[in-house]
Amino acid sequence: MISAAIVGGTGYTGIELIRLLSAHPQVSIDLLTSRSEAGLRADDIFPSLRGITDLTFSDLGDDTLSALQKCDVVFFATPHGVAMQQAEALTQSGVRVIDLAADFRLQSLPDFEQWYQQKHACPELLKTAVYGLPEVTRDKLSEALVVGNPGCYPTTAILGLKPIIDAQNEQNTRLVDARIVIDAKSGVSGAGRQAKLALNYAETTDNFKAYSVEGHRHLPEIEQGVAQLLDSRFTHRIRFLPHLVPMIRGMFSSIHLELTDEGKSVDWQQQFETSYASEIFVDVLPKEIYPDTRSVRASNRLRIAIHQDNERSELTVLVVQDNLVKGASGQAVQNMNVMFGLDESLGLNFAPIVP
Ligand SMILES: NC(=O)c1ccc[n+]([C@@H]2O[C@H](COP(=O)([O-])OP(=O)(O)OC[C@H]3O[C@@H](n4cnc5c(N)ncnc54)[C@H](OP(=O)(O)O)[C@@H]3O)[C@@H](O)[C@H]2O)c1
Repeated sequence: MISAAIVGGTGYTGIELIRLLSAHPQVSIDLLTSRSEAGLRADDIFPSLRGITDLTFSDLGDDTLSALQKCDVVFFATPHGVAMQQAEALTQSGVRVIDLAADFRLQSLPDFEQWYQQKHACPELLKTAVYGLPEVTRDKLSEALVVGNPGCYPTTAILGLKPIIDAQNEQNTRLVDARIVIDAKSGVSGAGRQAKLALNYAETTDNFKAYSVEGHRHLPEIEQGVAQLLDSRFTHRIRFLPHLVPMIRGMFSSIHLELTDEGKSVDWQQQFETSYASEIFVDVLPKEIYPDTRSVRASNRLRIAIHQDNERSELTVLVVQDNLVKGASGQAVQNMNVMFGLDESLGLNFAPIVP
């Protein structure tokens, strides 16, 4: 059994990790931390966990690190800046780290400091960290000591663009114009569980708004994904604009691209289907079937639809996922499975919830 710890078990990604790991046949959750709820049983805070787990939240203060060092893997479901304080000591003890925050996503230190307004605590370790998007970085995950679990929007953007960038690289020809527009929407759980005025029921229900219009932290991560992970031979200018929609879970990214003359000769439906034929968690929908967030709710699946209009030179890629599962905790478990040599879908191959 893999001995796992969850740091930050009271947040939305934390409770999702408890739900997923409790059902995982090869994992035992041996430590669950929270500063605010220490001493309370997890199922006292979340009645949905009654009968699922007997775990109690703990805050071991100065002893936290030595307790974490006894585990095989530590999931940090915490705000940015927490995992990097302990990652070095943990990896030196042979403990593997999966950070759901952004401490190990951006390889560029100036980008990290600019977008997250803090100095990186372990830049040397950052250089060895692997970006945890198995469909792109699977080969590097088995050796990884530290994994930066991707942001939710970048997961939809990078997987939505991968077949296009791969095709351009293979043909060594620009198939889409440099300009890419990503118009994305997230449910309110994407902002976490802490109380904020802007996230009150009366503020979010029956309302719809754009946010971070002047620039969102996930933009440099998407740019890094296209330029470095997908190794694009061509430069792209990406406009990414997120919106908040009045639903609890779910994320919908519409990616708009302009086809070049060479790009019009590609059958993009076929290209996407071939690209993802062996990916269990990426579903390319048949032509003229379009995704909705309900079709992936509470599951680790991401669904993609393609619309190609050669007359208008348009290629539209629609991507949906559950922000808390494939966009966060499910992807973290998928990463753990690959890191520990398990079947990648272990503990994750369940159907979405409808209605
Ligand atoms: N929500 C999403 O859809 C989503 C998707 C992808 C990635 N993420 C990322 O995943 C991380 C967690 O997100 P979330 O939505 O679960 O956040 P959240 O609901 O706000 O929960 C944060 C958790 O971290 C703990 N925590 C806060 N400060 C801490 C500190 N200094 N040291 C130790 N623990 C601390 C909190 O518990 P105590 O205060 O009780 O200790 C709480 O359990 C964030 O970095 C977020 O950006 C979230």
